[in-house]
Amino acid sequence: MQIASLSRLFDATGGLIWHARALRSRRSLWRPFLEEVSSFLDQAPPGHQNLVLVGPSAGWCLSDKFLQNFGSITCIDPDPLAPILFNFIHGAALRRSRAKLKWIDADFFADPLLYLGQGEDQLVLFCNVAGQLFLNSQSQGDVEARLAAIPNILSGYDWGSFHDLLSAPIQQSLPARRLSSKLDGERLISDYGQGGTWLDHWTANFLPGEVPRVIIPWQLKPKRLHLVEAGWVS
Ligand SMILES: C[S@@+](CC[C@H](N)C(=O)[O-])C[C@H]1O[C@@H](n2cnc3c(N)ncnc32)[C@H](O)[C@@H]1O
Repeated sequence: MQIASLSRLFDATGGLIWHARALRSRRSLWRPFLEEVSSFLDQAPPGHQNLVLVGPSAGWCLSDKFLQNFGSITCIDPDPLAPILFNFIHGAALRRSRAKLKWIDADFFADPLLYLGQGEDQLVLFCNVAGQLFLNSQSQGDVEARLAAIPNILSGYDWGSFHDLLSAPIQQSLPARRLSSKLDGERLISDYGQGGTWLDHWTANFLPGEVPRVIIPWQLKPKRLHLVEAGWVS
C-alpha cells in the first residue's frame, strides 16, 4: 500500500475510525437510523439497472435489498478499505443477484461528469458524503459551490442523497420527520424542541428546495446527534 493510500486510512470522513465505529454501532446505537435509511432507499425512483454510489464506504448504511435491485453498481470512494469491507458486508447478496460491482478510487466532486456514464438508465446516490465535505475544506463558500453545481450537472439523471445537515453534542431520541419541501435549520431544531449550539454541515441547499425529504435523527455516538436529510430528485 502506498503512502497516499495509507493516509486515507485515517481520513476525517471515513477510514479506520469510521469502520470501527460502524462495526460497533450498526446493530445497536445506529439501528433506528439504519431502519429509516432503508425505508428511504425503498422509495428510490424505479426502473434503473445501473447504480452509481458516491462515498459508499463499506456500505454500512446500505441494505442488501436495495443493492439487489441493480444489475451493475459503480462505487466511487477513495477509502482503500472500502472495497474489501463492502464485499464482506454485501458480497454474498450481490453474488446471489449477480450484480456487477466496479470501484473507482477518486474524489467525485472534483469532476463529477468524468464518473457518470451516458444515458437515462442510471441512478446516482450520495451516501452520507455531502455533509462530510466540510471536514476537508477551509471554506464554506467552496463546499456550497461544489454542492450547488450538482443538481445542474445531474439534470437528466435521477439522483438522491442522504447527508448530515446539522449535529450537536446531545443524546436525544427523536422521531424522523417527513417534509414536503425544505425547512429552515433553526425552525427544524426548535420544532424538535431543541436549542443550544448546532454544527452546520453546509448542506442546507444541496437538495433543491421543492424536493420532498425526510429528516432522520442519527445518534452517531452516545453523546453526538446528527440530523440527516434524505431526498430523491427525479
Ligand atoms: C461517512 S462515510 C459514508 C458511509 C457510507 N454511507 C456507509 O454506508 O458506510 C463517508 C465516505 O465518503 C467518502 N468520501 C469522502 N469524500 C469523498 C469524495 N470527494 N468523493 C468520493 N467519496 C468521498 C469517504 O472515503 C467515506 O468512505
